Amino acid sequence: LKPGFHVAIIMDGNGRWASQRGLPRPFGHRAGAETLKRIASLAPDLGVTTLTLFAFSTYNWLRAPAEVTGLMNLLGDYLARETQAFVTGGWRLSLIGRRDRLPARHLADLERIEAATAGGKRLHVRIAVDYSAREAIEQAAHSHASDLARVIAQSRPGDSDEVLEVDLMIRTGGDKRLSDFLLWECAFAELYFVDTLWPDFDETCLTAAIDDFRGRERANAVAPSPRLMVS
Ligand code: FPP
Repeated sequence: LKPGFHVAIIMDGNGRWASQRGLPRPFGHRAGAETLKRIASLAPDLGVTTLTLFAFSTYNWLRAPAEVTGLMNLLGDYLARETQAFVTGGWRLSLIGRRDRLPARHLADLERIEAATAGGKRLHVRIAVDYSAREAIEQAAHSHASDLARVIAQSRPGDSDEVLEVDLMIRTGGDKRLSDFLLWECAFAELYFVDTLWPDFDETCLTAAIDDFRGRERANAVAPSPRLMVS
């Protein structure tokens, strides 16, 4: 087994979690942010070195304005409030996705957090905000081929040598689709779908997903790995 792997998560089910409790949807997103923090704290001990989380899709702009504002506020404010905890935990936080449409105040907060956590070595947490895989791939197609990896990651200079390929893609909330998340990077990913709503996703759920992944890796261990290199 590889010493560290890349897990991506589609954190679905916040709205239903809130509705089931008679609460407005933003309560579900807030609970989801707590889950994110808990899961990222556990991940390194389970062998995860990179975690990419789908926090806000390009299509989420179409949601009710109050929900969009609530999500944006949550992203900026929650992460800003937790920055010291991230530094202490050895997390490096970075954003993927478009930056040009984010509210200026939140973008400034998020970029401050990126700078403050840049030295984190324990876990790379990539938060996808205003992200669409198709759009990223389209953009890549318009760029020079040698820029492919950098453009898909929409990352900063210096990140281009990172291996972005996803090893395990988890989706909570019961749907079995990728919803335009990391389409290129999931070419050989193991896919894991679970009915649990994201705010209820806990240590037991994460352990089950990773055990499942390790089992499938072992089952495939004799076959040559068809990993696709982007260089
Ligand atoms: C999908 O649930 C989830 C989202 C659209 C947002 C995910 C965001 C978070 C978990 C918070 C992220 C916070 C930080 C601090 C990065 P849904 O609303 O589509 O749920 P539903 O399918 O039950 O309606």
